[in-house]
Amino acid sequence: MTVILGLESSCDDSAAALVTSDRRVLAQAVVGQNGAHQPYGGVVPEIAARAHVEILPGLIEQVLSEAGLSIGDVDAVAATAGPGLIGGVMVALLAGKGLALAAGKPLLAINHLEGHALSPRLSDPDLDFPYLLLLVSGGHCQLLEVRGAGDYRRLATTIDDAAGEAFDKAAKLLGLPYPGGPAIEELAKLGDPTAVPLPRPLVGSAEPHFSFAGLKSAVQRAVISGDFRKEDIAASFQQAVVDCLVDRTAIALRHSDTETFVVAGGVAANQAIRSALVDLAKRNGRRFSVPPQWLCTDNAAMIAWAGVERFAAGHRDSLDAPARARWPLDESADRVRGAGIKA
Ligand code: KG4
Ligand code: ZN
Repeated sequence: MTVILGLESSCDDSAAALVTSDRRVLAQAVVGQNGAHQPYGGVVPEIAARAHVEILPGLIEQVLSEAGLSIGDVDAVAATAGPGLIGGVMVALLAGKGLALAAGKPLLAINHLEGHALSPRLSDPDLDFPYLLLLVSGGHCQLLEVRGAGDYRRLATTIDDAAGEAFDKAAKLLGLPYPGGPAIEELAKLGDPTAVPLPRPLVGSAEPHFSFAGLKSAVQRAVISGDFRKEDIAASFQQAVVDCLVDRTAIALRHSDTETFVVAGGVAANQAIRSALVDLAKRNGRRFSVPPQWLCTDNAAMIAWAGVERFAAGHRDSLDAPARARWPLDESADRVRGAGIKA
């Protein structure tokens, strides 16, 4: 049995966790910074990086003390090394390097996307490779075949905005607080998902790529028109995202013979999206797996778990491991055409 300390600071959540190779989360702590970024309607990179410097060390102390362990008891330190806001990424990575150096422990430099991609295997002991993954977060919207730790084939990505980014931008247009996903989900419960005619970009196209920029512009027009209630716009927007995710994933399922379909990332916390994807898996005769909500949004347990998997596979990183702003899981995937290209 191994114990891995995981550290995360690639966006606006500072997090630390201790996870064992037999899937026990010994302790985990996440501190968000919503209050600090709310006046700006989005994450301000420098504010985030400075906050991580203040918050992260206390969280490391906290999880070690909750688990009754000292740094000498862990087998390795796993820290997010990208992709993300580079100033923030450097905080967890350098903290991890410092701890590894001082305690004489191996360092694991973790790809944050791999943390999301493998997180379902922490919560679901029966989830074997390979599986089809819909990774939906604030920065990414991708369909990937996960063949093993470190072995990914990208089937599709977004040609402009990520799904979470679309939630955040739509929320801003509706005057809702950041992050927009949970706020839109709450308001949508009071609205009619058929009230506002909104587009479903790329639905019906042969390649399973995503696009959300046109949907955001349509929300903007609906808000400006003054013809619709905010709760109806929220519900109609959420339904449009659900329809896009379901249609695009259905195409990918046709291209993939994996038995299991998995969804992960912050947007997978959304109940309407989760239940639409459960139905999709059922209709296509696939097993479905999704982590609990707390493991979908950014956390360090998923980073520690990716560390568990990499440690078991014999990976170790050296102390000169770089912090990377961009770090695609499938380095061989072609770039796709679009207004704002995402990895
Ligand atoms: O995975 P995550 O915590 O951070 C990134 O790696 O990006 O995802 C954050 C994103 C934000 O855009 C947030 O609005 C969205 O996930 N999100 C949601 C919900 N909870 C978080 N989107 C829709 N519904 C939710 N309940
Ligand atoms: Zn994330």
